[in-house]
Amino acid sequence: MGAQLIDGKAYAQAVRTRVGLRVRELVAETGQTPGLAVVLVGHDPASEIYVRSKGKQAVEAGMASFEHRLPAEISAETLLTLIHQLNEDTLVHGFLVQLPLPDHLDARAVINAISPQKDVDGFHTSNVGMVGTGQEAIVPCTPLGCMMMLRTLHDDFRGKTALVIGHSNVVGKPMARMLLNADCTVMVAHKSSTNIPQLARMADIIVAAAGVPGLVKADWLKPGATVIDVGINRVPAPDLGPDKTRITGDVDIAARDVAGAIAPVPGGVGPMTIACLLANTLSAYCHLLGLPDRPISLEHKDPT
Ligand code: GUN
Repeated sequence: MGAQLIDGKAYAQAVRTRVGLRVRELVAETGQTPGLAVVLVGHDPASEIYVRSKGKQAVEAGMASFEHRLPAEISAETLLTLIHQLNEDTLVHGFLVQLPLPDHLDARAVINAISPQKDVDGFHTSNVGMVGTGQEAIVPCTPLGCMMMLRTLHDDFRGKTALVIGHSNVVGKPMARMLLNADCTVMVAHKSSTNIPQLARMADIIVAAAGVPGLVKADWLKPGATVIDVGINRVPAPDLGPDKTRITGDVDIAARDVAGAIAPVPGGVGPMTIACLLANTLSAYCHLLGLPDRPISLEHKDPT
């Protein structure tokens, strides 16, 4: 029997609807509109598309959207001045600087200049450390989306084993920490690992974020495993015509014959990233306004 396909579009729509409803209730209550600002340096085509979608979806959720476009040759000082202004701006409750940045800018210094309370990407060292120690914090959007999907399939992570493939700061590391905070047994593999097939065979849950097309093979999987594919790889597609390409994930298509459930590429976790960005912005707004809302996006486990 084929795996259940996890429909990321439907999940993301559900998250956006939930955020939008809560935003409208809170605006009616407080008279203040949640504001999301996005800073784009330069003209990276993929970043342009992401930034436009973030602004559009924020407005659809009833938020105010602010876009700051800066030339690629901007100095670090000017960028940091804008970040300090956004930190102080009471109309902005969350903001991010779209990555990648031009080489002359130090991305870590830029991220750490953002107020951790407004860091809706969850990339600030303070938020990373909080999540790493099981404290309530803003968590990165893509692993948050994966976690939301996994939670609908697994009531309890205790006694389950997960393999996270990839150890980036954006997906792999936060994903592993969140699963660990949920008491999952977590293995992390990456490009220097030599035993990924053996690790995969032990895993009830696999999150593949290595950036290697078709890396995870059907015969690596424990039958019935849940697989979340986070890979976005552009590969040649000669069947579509000369010079044509398509987006493919890190999980081989044949894995669908063995897994219990798969969030595929395309069609899986992709749209959850911006939906979770909106959820994080709503959480940041609630926190900054001192609203007692139980934020829908925070992943934590109280340290005991
Ligand atoms: N570039 C690609 N994905 C992201 C993201 O989630 N946040 C930021 N700031 N830049 C990105």
